Amino acid sequence: MDFLKVNNYIEELYSSTNKINRKTYQDMTELKDFIPVVDDDVARYLKILIMIKRPKRILEIGTSIGYSTTSMATAVKSFGGKITTVEYDEKVAKQAKDNFERAGISDYIEILIGDAKEIVPELEGGYDLIFQDADKRLYPELYKECIRLLNPDGIFIAEDTLFPVIDLDEKWHYLIPSIEEFNKLVVNDSRVDSTIIPIGDGVTVIIKK
Ligand SMILES: C[S@@+](CC[C@H](N)C(=O)[O-])C[C@H]1O[C@@H](n2cnc3c(N)ncnc32)[C@H](O)[C@@H]1O
Repeated sequence: MDFLKVNNYIEELYSSTNKINRKTYQDMTELKDFIPVVDDDVARYLKILIMIKRPKRILEIGTSIGYSTTSMATAVKSFGGKITTVEYDEKVAKQAKDNFERAGISDYIEILIGDAKEIVPELEGGYDLIFQDADKRLYPELYKECIRLLNPDGIFIAEDTLFPVIDLDEKWHYLIPSIEEFNKLVVNDSRVDSTIIPIGDGVTVIIKK
């Protein structure tokens, strides 16, 4: 399968809807300097998973300007779940907060500003869904904590897990060893079932048994 062709076809199909996509979200955002947010197919996938699973408690690691949070929150709104999202860059966290207010979804989101390395180990468990999208070097380091925080049958989603094989800008190559380490941790963990979906830059979906 030619993934580029497939992706172009899918994005063209969905561009005819009037839903907010990554480009319009970024255009509406005043701050222009931030780490890239998820692709539109990943945002749609997160939303669909949430509509199926209906998680009451969601943890996101890596908020940036809040595009993925917004996508998840629009699904959460229909059944009253709550998203806790962690971001250490105060400027982007403030922009995310403004974006949530503009979208009318602030009531469903709590932003924790600080280093996920310190915050995540201090959190109490009971999450139904965790989305990991912060610094890739944190993935192996926080894996054990994420599994601890998840309820049985909980879903753990990790973005960018095909970094080792995609056509990746050289400036991100230093992150590849951490993703390789993370992928091996997941595959060899008997407490979970998982697979990698080739959308965005690779999305790992893990279910805690
Ligand atoms: C890829 S962006 C997140 C994009 C966002 N999930 C979206 O799609 O809209 C990663 C974010 O993680 C934040 N980050 C990186 N390392 C972090 C850490 N140790 N603790 C908290 N946030 C961190 C960065 O500042 C950046 O804004």
